[in-house]
Amino acid sequence: MHVFQTKISSSVDEALSYLEAGECVGIPTETVYGLAADACSSTAVQKIYHSKGRPNFNPLIIHVDSIEMAMQYGHFNEVALELVYECWQNQRFADLHIKENMKKQQPFTFVVPLKDNIKSVLASEVTAGLKTVAIRSPSHPVALDLIKRLGRPLAAPSANRSNYISPTTAKAVFEDLKGRIPFVLDAGPCAKGIESTILDLTTLQPVVLRYGSGDLNRINEVLNAYQQGLQVEEKQTSVHMHMKAIRAPGMLQKHYAPKTPVRLNAREQLAPTEAYLAFGQTPAHIKVALNLSETANLEEASVNLYHMLRELDQRGYNSIAIAPIPNTGLGMAINDRLKRAAAS
Ligand code: TXA
Ligand code: MG
Repeated sequence: MHVFQTKISSSVDEALSYLEAGECVGIPTETVYGLAADACSSTAVQKIYHSKGRPNFNPLIIHVDSIEMAMQYGHFNEVALELVYECWQNQRFADLHIKENMKKQQPFTFVVPLKDNIKSVLASEVTAGLKTVAIRSPSHPVALDLIKRLGRPLAAPSANRSNYISPTTAKAVFEDLKGRIPFVLDAGPCAKGIESTILDLTTLQPVVLRYGSGDLNRINEVLNAYQQGLQVEEKQTSVHMHMKAIRAPGMLQKHYAPKTPVRLNAREQLAPTEAYLAFGQTPAHIKVALNLSETANLEEASVNLYHMLRELDQRGYNSIAIAPIPNTGLGMAINDRLKRAAAS
């Protein structure tokens, strides 16, 4: 594999020129940093798999700058369209009230049937041979600008080495992938800190494939307005594990994991060599290494989660003990990732 002198910079122009030359680069999104390449170039997309060490059966998300671009690649049924307009509405209003619409924008990735006429255009490596494609419209202005100027979708998984923790800063991307990619575009830390929520929209009832930073209440409101009583289907992970075809390979049990062993729902620190990662207030006798959120705020904990796990992983503890996190709203995404981090 080619050894790069990896550059880290805030130049969008430079990032674009690497993408146009068929290279893959680290880019910011509002959820986590992605490792992006031109989704219509097989050689470029192959570089994503190589530099991450990602198994080739695990498909990638394509990132689009507009609903129009999404529709060129995927087939959206009636329910899917409702959700697209709800979640990616900053595109709908173009440049009007951009700031306000950005706030409403929701980090959802939708899995939809791949359009027949686009199969020869999209690099086949993106979908790993599936008949569906995962599409997301990020709200990060830098990501949107890159896609718009490239004129094609960007294929991008999270910009970490396969199975390690997703990066929420350009520095974390650099540490994981230096020498393996030419460029990391630095636009500061990610606002959300946890990956997008993935919904399967190939059937009329959407199915949650991965919990994430998207708000499922918003989805359920839209579904209920479309047809009274319609709600997303939330399957247990174990059900997925027993499915013959794994629908979102990110559901694989061991994933998002630090190198240091992780212990969950910890109410005590068992040894001085154990790091205690707190959430909210903790009894005074526990020596807290870091706190996800002193005020027990789940949004703040999401933003801090990966960053703090990486930090503790580097400090050389024997184990990381993590306080219980309430299993509601964003807490479900946090607990999902923690469970995978702890799986052996
Ligand atoms: O927030 C995010 O979603 C970040 C940013 C960079 O966009 N991306 C991300 O990508 O988390 P990745 O590759 O780490 O996770 C995407 C997940 C994988 O588990 C993959 O298996 C699943 O999406 N996926 C991709 N295409 C799929 C498809 N056609 N059907 C089912 N699952 C799919
Ligand atoms: Mg990932």
